[in-house]
Amino acid sequence: MRLRLTVFLVLLVIELILSSPSRRFDGVAFEKFLIKARDVLDRVPLIDGHNDFPYSLRRYESNQVGDLDIYDLTTVEPWASSSSSHTDINRLRQGKVGAQFWSAYVPCSTQYKDAISKTWEQIDVIHRLVEANPTTFAFVTSAQEIEDAFAQGKIGSMVGVEGGHSIGSSLAVLRMMYDMGVRYMTMTHSCPTPWADNSQLDDPGNVPVHDGLTPFGRTVVAEMNRLGMLIDLSHVSRKTMRDALEISTAPVIFSHSSAYALCNNTRNVPDDILQLVAQNGGVVMVNFFVSYVTCGLTATVQDVADHIEHIRNIAGVDNVGVGSDFNGVARTPDGLKDVSQYPNLFAELLARGWTETDLEKVAGLNLLRALRGAESVRDQMAADGIKPFDEWIPQTDLPAEAQPCSTGEYKSQKLLTE
Ligand SMILES: *[C@@H]1O[C@H](CO)[C@@H](O)[C@H](O)[C@H]1NC(C)=O
Ligand SMILES: [Zn+2]
Repeated sequence: MRLRLTVFLVLLVIELILSSPSRRFDGVAFEKFLIKARDVLDRVPLIDGHNDFPYSLRRYESNQVGDLDIYDLTTVEPWASSSSSHTDINRLRQGKVGAQFWSAYVPCSTQYKDAISKTWEQIDVIHRLVEANPTTFAFVTSAQEIEDAFAQGKIGSMVGVEGGHSIGSSLAVLRMMYDMGVRYMTMTHSCPTPWADNSQLDDPGNVPVHDGLTPFGRTVVAEMNRLGMLIDLSHVSRKTMRDALEISTAPVIFSHSSAYALCNNTRNVPDDILQLVAQNGGVVMVNFFVSYVTCGLTATVQDVADHIEHIRNIAGVDNVGVGSDFNGVARTPDGLKDVSQYPNLFAELLARGWTETDLEKVAGLNLLRALRGAESVRDQMAADGIKPFDEWIPQTDLPAEAQPCSTGEYKSQKLLTE
């Protein structure tokens, strides 16, 4: 009996040494965690909140992708030499990605200009990407469809519109984008819209434009609830986060943001907001960009795991996920260089004593729950007879720079006779 105990203790000490941080990436123990992590990602879909691959298609190929083979982009220029090319089919499969929100992003420079048409071009290129690779991808628009695609071995592909400037302050455009398959909208990118403040306004020395959401911005939240489109609070100011969390009757997401307590970039989520996200039932999907992970020039997979653990500690294990921002950023962490390396992150969490049940939540079950929550709010509002919100933004809410691009409201009792 005593001998057995001694043998057990010796084995335990060896196990602890093998799993110590310095040994994690070459140790036998880490290999064991990696196998377990891959098993978890075979069981539940790994759902990533944000990948800018469609914007890479615009930048490198002008969206002319009819003949582009995206199986292996590591040997195709300009992809091969780009520091922000982290995605292709081969690596998505190695990384065990189960579903992906593809970002329909156009920069703030398009606001009040061609934001809407360029956003539609990005939504179109996502549809064509999926159609051109039917054995890899399936276009999905609901939690159930994510699960169905996963069961068929396909990567469920969804669209997230990144930035409220993409709807041109029009609820009609928002509704039509829902019909095109858009299932989240990030309320701002790096500029305020006429109805919401962005995160940079919280940087030292800057001042809010609206102090959160305007009355029209609140209507945008209500209409997104009615549609069943997730409200994404990455990129918005703290007051916009607070306002949206107060108004939204559906769970919200942060599609690609990390923890402010660990890196004080305003793109990250402060602890008081994390607590509100827990009450709301939402999900903070951790961004891998080193500037948001360490606030420095380098980071490791362990640093990313620290963010996941922090959000678990403050909000809860039901409120954290992953939103890599791959292809949107140039610098990614060691051990999480591209989409092939997600299993390293889950192995790292296993090495820290996480249970497989909790890993499943981070991988995808939390996002599925939030999306189902938004779908049931949509269904309840329909059952309650809530009609589409069809008000127009007051012309007086539009800044001077928007005026030359607007032809006004066209409300007239006069008949057009010529
Ligand atoms: C983050 O902390 C650094 C160092 O204390 C400081 O210089 C910087 O202004 C802070 N950033 C924000 C957004 O508060
Ligand atoms: Zn972003």
